[in-house]
Amino acid sequence: MTAHGANPFTPGFGLTPMILAGRAVAIDDFTAALAGNVPEARAILISGARGSGKTVLLTEFTELAMEAGWTDLRVHTSSSSLVDELRSMAIARLRELDPDAETSRLTSARVSGVGASRDVLDRYEGEGETITTVLDRLAELTDQDGGGLLITLDELQSVDRDQLHALTQHVQDLIGSGHAVAFIAAGVRPGVDALLDHERTTFLRRAHRIEVGSVDVGTAAEAIRMTIADTSKTIAPEAAVLAGEISKGYPYLIQLIGSKAWQNSGDADTIELEDVRGGSSGVIAAMIKNVHGPSLRGLSSRKREYLHAMLQDEGPSNVGDIAERMGIDPRNQSTYRERLIDDELIRPAGRGLVEFALPYLGDALRHEKEEGAATEPGSGLTRSHRSRRDPRPR
Ligand SMILES: Nc1ncnc2c1ncn2[C@@H]1O[C@H](COP(=O)(O)OP(=O)(O)OP(=O)(O)O)[C@@H](O)[C@H]1O
Ligand SMILES: [Mg+2]
Repeated sequence: MTAHGANPFTPGFGLTPMILAGRAVAIDDFTAALAGNVPEARAILISGARGSGKTVLLTEFTELAMEAGWTDLRVHTSSSSLVDELRSMAIARLRELDPDAETSRLTSARVSGVGASRDVLDRYEGEGETITTVLDRLAELTDQDGGGLLITLDELQSVDRDQLHALTQHVQDLIGSGHAVAFIAAGVRPGVDALLDHERTTFLRRAHRIEVGSVDVGTAAEAIRMTIADTSKTIAPEAAVLAGEISKGYPYLIQLIGSKAWQNSGDADTIELEDVRGGSSGVIAAMIKNVHGPSLRGLSSRKREYLHAMLQDEGPSNVGDIAERMGIDPRNQSTYRERLIDDELIRPAGRGLVEFALPYLGDALRHEKEEGAATEPGSGLTRSHRSRRDPRPR
């Protein structure tokens, strides 16, 4: 750590940044949904590419709900049963909230100090307490406090369809009983779209959809400037502008370039243009490794060929040219075009034109072509802490 304190940027997945770029409208809408009484506005589906800020927005919504007196239950897609997990979390929360659980604890504690915790356990873990009863009771208690119950589910693309159906069924029941309930799910577009195609996911299909992605470059520059303004350093105006441009407004890249520029400035009070410029290649490499690498790895060879055929063009590519370069029929071209749009790798750019949908995807493909893989090979040898701390006896 330098005299200027820790790096204020958060270039890592799931890490909430100091300044949220481009989320003002979503946050206002959600705040209104919490305070209002339109149940539909409280079912939200956040989707977007890797590193676009889904988890961060989900976390921010959760915090807002908690500030408004709501209770949150965070279900994990990795659990073997979503509904079982929801039930045990709801029970744990009830123990904290239920005044009756509290009274029974006090009464029995007065009679005998030992029986106390068992009484509480009995109340909610008894055979008769179905998840419906448990959730109903919890929702009732949170309603009474003027709050509500928020259920969230991240990494939606990896959830099992039937489990999702069972979970949303409970959410719907709670809403149907008139409780204040909100449900927010977040996931990567291709996986989420595949889930929504299924007939049992009607609830989510009707949810309010928030697509997160890039913000404009000026907003990105301002987010970087504001993040630094809260520290003892400053950033030169032209350096902030360049950092915004390098980030291309992509949330993960805003944090990455900010972080690199901060690092490069060392002990200096001001982050200069050079510090930002020097961070650019590292930023692109990290984007390739952490975002493009994983999404290109599973790509079919035809789709990959399609993307490579786009590399020749400076700007958007003509779909006819792509078909010609691939040596395929234009009609087959459109199949790959549609699939790649679904994958969020390309997007339409006007009549008969497509372009890359994510920043530095072209660089990742070029890199892949040259190196055979979208990752930098490791280089150099460094003594580890073991070797430094515990040198071999002579
Ligand atoms: N609104 C924002 N403004 C600035 N930076 C952001 C914003 N949202 C997210 N970030 C940054 O972007 C990066 C990725 O955020 P997050 O983990 O939320 O992405 P994600 O969409 O959930 O990614 P994944 O698909 O891998 O789960 C983090 O470094 C985070 O600090
Ligand atoms: Mg995430």
